[in-house]
Amino acid sequence: MDLQQLCVDMTAIAKAVGEIILNARPNAGSTSIKKNTADIVTETDQAVEAHIRQRLLGQYPSFEFIGEESFKSGSEITDQPTFIVDPIDGTSNFVHGFPAVCVSIGLVVNKSPTVGVVYNPFTDELWTAIKGQGAFTSRNGGVRQRLPLTSSSLNLSSACIGIEWGSDREGPAFELNLHVFTTLARTERTGGRFVNSLRCTGSAAITICRVAAGQQDAFWECGSWAWDVAAAWCILVEAGGVMVDGHPTGNWHPPVDNRRYLAVRPASEGQEQFVREFWDVVRSGMKPPSDMKLVSDGVLA
Ligand code: IPD
Ligand code: CA
Repeated sequence: MDLQQLCVDMTAIAKAVGEIILNARPNAGSTSIKKNTADIVTETDQAVEAHIRQRLLGQYPSFEFIGEESFKSGSEITDQPTFIVDPIDGTSNFVHGFPAVCVSIGLVVNKSPTVGVVYNPFTDELWTAIKGQGAFTSRNGGVRQRLPLTSSSLNLSSACIGIEWGSDREGPAFELNLHVFTTLARTERTGGRFVNSLRCTGSAAITICRVAAGQQDAFWECGSWAWDVAAAWCILVEAGGVMVDGHPTGNWHPPVDNRRYLAVRPASEGQEQFVREFWDVVRSGMKPPSDMKLVSDGVLA
């Protein structure tokens, strides 16, 4: 498999659909509610996915394809080369014109993130990676910079953490979310693990790319999907970051469809300690343990 050619092809497609996204004018008539008003889809999401699917499978007909908008519940990622695509990551931002929107095209081979392309057409920012060949970013078509841009030592108290509300707003997973949010926001005097800053920017893929670059220290979300993370995962790991289970299971190598993710930036020191301290924060929200169980195939039950 020519991974460099794949990366070139995936990048060309991401840039082409970037034009479609930029020229779209989403409105109430072209936007539908999926689960609730925090979980929406526009006609552009669907059109862009159809376009990407047609072009990728036209060029690579033997590959599998998983896309957010055509996903059938129960389908699983196999060992075959599989494109995992989010046509628009940051749909809520897209309908608001908030410029944290991207197209995310990942290729996994043997279930391992192998090529990743994330492109934000609003800022003309591109992030790419090929397994074993490093990760890069460029802006406005300018010079490619190798990631990370910075990799100083890491610690929880000075961290800028990307965290998201998700679209489930009740139940134990949401309670755990609230616990992690408030614990990271509170001072130690009030029982928390006060960090420098928390950011909800509405695109998991862009946030993970920022973590890969070292512009944010970590990203934590339980409930997101393989298409939100697959492309950026390759970029993160190639930059020297790690993607571990978002729950404190001790799993440093979760599967792409784990649904619970903690991405931590490249660092000269402190990466492992950071993961363990973050897991402690999550674990402290799981008391009493009998109230909440970790399920093997998904989010917190
Ligand atoms: C969403 C974004 C958001 C994350 C959600 C995702 P979408 O993707 O990545 O940051 O919190 O879990 O579903 O719906 O904009 O493609
Ligand atoms: Ca999407």
